Order: sequence, then structure tokens, then C-alpha cells
Amino acid sequence: MKIVPVLDEENGCSSYIIGDEVSGKAAVIDPLKSVGYNHYILTASANGLTIRHVIDTHVHADHYSEAKKLSRETSLIPSMSVNTSAEFAFNPLAEGDTIELGFTTIRIIETPGHTPESISLLVTDSSRSSEPWCIFTGDSLFVGDVGRPDLVDSQQEQVNQAASQQFDSIFRKILPLQDYVEIFPAHFGGSACGGLFLSPKFVSTIGFEKRYNRFLKTDNAADFSRNLMKNLKPAPVTAQQIRNWNLGKSIDT
Ligand SMILES: [Fe+2]
Repeated sequence: MKIVPVLDEENGCSSYIIGDEVSGKAAVIDPLKSVGYNHYILTASANGLTIRHVIDTHVHADHYSEAKKLSRETSLIPSMSVNTSAEFAFNPLAEGDTIELGFTTIRIIETPGHTPESISLLVTDSSRSSEPWCIFTGDSLFVGDVGRPDLVDSQQEQVNQAASQQFDSIFRKILPLQDYVEIFPAHFGGSACGGLFLSPKFVSTIGFEKRYNRFLKTDNAADFSRNLMKNLKPAPVTAQQIRNWNLGKSIDT
């Protein structure tokens, strides 16, 4: 398995090319408009990989996604959660679905919270083990932080519900993984989708986060939500506009 991170340092956004070096099949996860489709195609090619899937882990609110354009340029259809209300054709992904890239398999795990349609991608490389090796957590579990619950709907009742979903997604679906499983989130550093404690380091492990992530110190949903709200940064004013564009509801950027 090969993982090529493609980072936007200025905005704290992470995207990834993940592929199987034997078959050459690859997927791009959370491609960024700020990077541009050509970079992904050229980088995949330079690594002996061909893009077969373009996946967004959720409808981003802090940056424009390049998934639509990259898909068009590679004659693919973007893949997103079945729960996404996008106004363009996409390949719907649901809990338990798998994407095969040679020896590498991506399994879809629904992890709502940051947004209702958030998914995480659990990855196994059968040439090494039948056990999962890493997980792309989108905006659920970050390095040092967790994804904020207030960017879709800022009304208090909705935010509380989203925070509670985030707790369930992280504690019931992600943290039970083995400690050695690596996490590759969609953000790092100063990203607007995280809070004050989002690390500038873009990769970690389940075990390290279980031990040192301050939001995981409690197994009580109410404490988790309270702590999360207390440490929120101001929401970006363009969040709704960016979400609408990423959903195909507007053409203005
Ligand atoms: Fe996000």
C-alpha cells in the first residue's frame, strides 16, 4: 500500500492519494480545489498509480472540494456518503461498503457528527495483514482535537445533537480499533474545522490519541459535548456558501 499526502499548509487541509503499488489502482480522498486536479493526476502517475475513485469524506464547509472536477477529468463519478444531499450524480457509499484497490481495501464507516453525512475510511492491506492498518477519519477524530459540530446548523439544539453524534462516532466506531491503527484526518494546524488544540502534525495513531487527546479523557457524552463547545473557535462566515457550492447548489466561489 502506498499513501501520498497532499497538504494545503495555509488552510490546514489534508488530502491523500492511496493506492496499491502492485495493481496500480488508487483513490483520491478529499481532493482540494486549492491544489487543483492536475496535481493529483500527475502525482498519482509519478507514483505508478491510476486514479480509480475520488472520495469526499463529507461536504466540506471550510474549503472548496476538487472532487467534481477531478472526477470529470478522470472520467469517474465522485463517491460520497449515501446521506449526502448533493445536486449532482455521485456514487453513494454506505456503512460496510468496500472499495477494492488490489490488495488494499477501503471499508466505509458512517461517522456523523461534524456533518450528518460524514464517513471514515478504514483501510486494510491484505498483502500485510487481514487487520485494518489505518483509517481516514475526515473531520471526526483529529490529531489532538475532534471535528466541530456547529458548521451545518448553528442552532443550539442542532449543535448539541451533532456533538452527541460525534461522541458516538468516535467512541463507538473509531476508538475500539487497535491502538496501532494510524489515523489520517482531513485537517491539521489552523483549520477552521477544528478547535484550539488541533495539532500541526497531520498523522497519529488511535493509541496516542486515546492517551493524549484532551477530548477523549471522558467516556461521558455530556462531558465530551461541554468540553467541545468550550473550545470552539468562531465559525467561518463563508461556511454555508462553501457547503452549497460543494453540494452543487451554486456556481459562485
Ligand atoms: Fe470539515
